[in-house]
Amino acid sequence: MAEHAETLLPLGLRLRDRRVVVVGGGRVALRRVGALLQARAAVTVVSPEVVAALEDLALRGQVEWHPRFYADGDLEGAWLAMACTADPEVNAAVLREAEVRRVFCLRVDDARDASAWMPATGRSGPATVSVHGDRNPRRAAALRDAAVTAVEAALRDDPGAPARPPLRDDTPGRVILVGGGPGDPELLTLKGFQALATADVVVVDRLAPLAVLDGLREGVEVVDVSKIPRGRFTPQEEINAVLVDRARRGLTVVRLKGGDSFVFGRGMEEVLACAEAGVATEVVPGVTSAIAAPELAGIPVTHRGLSQGFTVISGHAAPGDPRSTVDWDALARGGTTLVVLMGVETLPAIAGALVAAGRDADTPLACVMDGGLPTQAVLSGTLGAVAKDGPPDGLRPPAVTVIGPVARFAAG
Ligand SMILES: C[S@@+](CC[C@H](N)C(=O)[O-])C[C@H]1O[C@@H](n2cnc3c(N)ncnc32)[C@H](O)[C@@H]1O
Repeated sequence: MAEHAETLLPLGLRLRDRRVVVVGGGRVALRRVGALLQARAAVTVVSPEVVAALEDLALRGQVEWHPRFYADGDLEGAWLAMACTADPEVNAAVLREAEVRRVFCLRVDDARDASAWMPATGRSGPATVSVHGDRNPRRAAALRDAAVTAVEAALRDDPGAPARPPLRDDTPGRVILVGGGPGDPELLTLKGFQALATADVVVVDRLAPLAVLDGLREGVEVVDVSKIPRGRFTPQEEINAVLVDRARRGLTVVRLKGGDSFVFGRGMEEVLACAEAGVATEVVPGVTSAIAAPELAGIPVTHRGLSQGFTVISGHAAPGDPRSTVDWDALARGGTTLVVLMGVETLPAIAGALVAAGRDADTPLACVMDGGLPTQAVLSGTLGAVAKDGPPDGLRPPAVTVIGPVARFAAG
C-alpha cells in the first residue's frame, strides 16, 4: 500500500555557534560537516576514526573531534544531531537519545523514524533552494537543479533564460580537474559547478570547498585524498591510480582541489598520468588563493604606484634548505609584491633572508588565514619584526602571506 506523503515544515536553521553533534566520521559525515561549517555551526564529531579531511578540520580547530565510539550523553547541549555511522544500531541509539533530549536528529541510513530530513540544497546568490522529494533523494536533487536554474533566471530578471548547458557528456570515462577556489563554495566557477553536477565520483582535497559536497547527487562516490601537513596523506601515485581506475570504468570523475589545480596543486601530474593511461581530461581553472585570499582581506596584489607585479612562491622549503630552488636575494631586490603559500612555519626564515638581502625591514606584511571561509582572519606585521621576533601571534595554516607595501591595505 502506498505510504502517504508526510507534510513537512521546511525551516531555515540558523546554526551559528550552536552545537551540532555528528556521530560518524566517514564520507557521509564529511558531506554534512562541510555544510554545517558553512552555516558556522559549532560542530562536534564523535567517531573513533575519521576521513583525512575531517581530521584536518579537527587539527585546524574547525571542528571538535572525540576519537571514540558514541556514548549516551554525547548530545548534551546539542541543537541538532546527525547519525552518520555505518552501524544501524549506533544510529538508532543516537536517534533515541535525541528523542529523549528533544533534539532534532537526521539519520543517514534509514530516515523513516528520524525527526528531521536533509533536503537537497542549492544556492544562487542570496537565494537558498531546498527541496524534499518525499525521501526520494534522486527526485529531490533533480527538482533542486530545476529550481536553482529557475531561481537564477528569476534573479537575472529574465524568466525565459535557457537552462544551464550541460557539459559535454559524449566521452564515457574521463577526469575533470576542477579548481574549487579558496574555500567559499560561491567562489567555485559556474563551469566547476556544472562539472560537479555530472560527476559519478568526486576525488577531493582538504582545502577544496567542502560545503559543495553536500549538494552532490545521492550515490556519488566521494574519495577523500587530503594531504595533512606532516600528517596523513594519500601518495600522489595512489591518487593518480584512483582517477585512472574510475575513469576506465566509464565514470565521470571530478578531481576537486582548492584554489587552482595548476598553482602548487600537482594538477599537471594528474593530467600526465591520465594521458599516459589513455584517459581524457579536462581542466577547469579555479580562483587561486594566491590572489583571492589577499583580495578577500582587502589587499590588491598590484596597485598603481605601489607594485608593478607580484611573485607567487612556495615557502615549504625555507631559504637555505637544500630543497629550495628559490633565489631569495633576487626576490628581495625584485620590487614586486611577494605572495607566499605554504609558508607558515618558514615565515621567520623567509623574512630574515629577505631583510639580510636588503629588503627594507619596515616592509609591511599580512597573513590571511582561512581566506574565503567563515573563519577568515588577518594578521599584520613587518618583515623586520617577523625576522626578529617570529611569526605574528596566532598564525596558523592555511595562510597566504603578502609582503610589500600593498599589505598595508589589509582590513581587520
Ligand atoms: C598546496 S597549496 C595549494 C594552492 C592552491 N592550488 C591554490 O591555487 O590556491 C596549499 C596552500 O595554499 C594556501 N591556501 C589555500 N587555500 C587557502 C585559504 N582558503 N586561505 C589561505 N591560504 C590558503 C595556503 O598557503 C596553503 O598552504
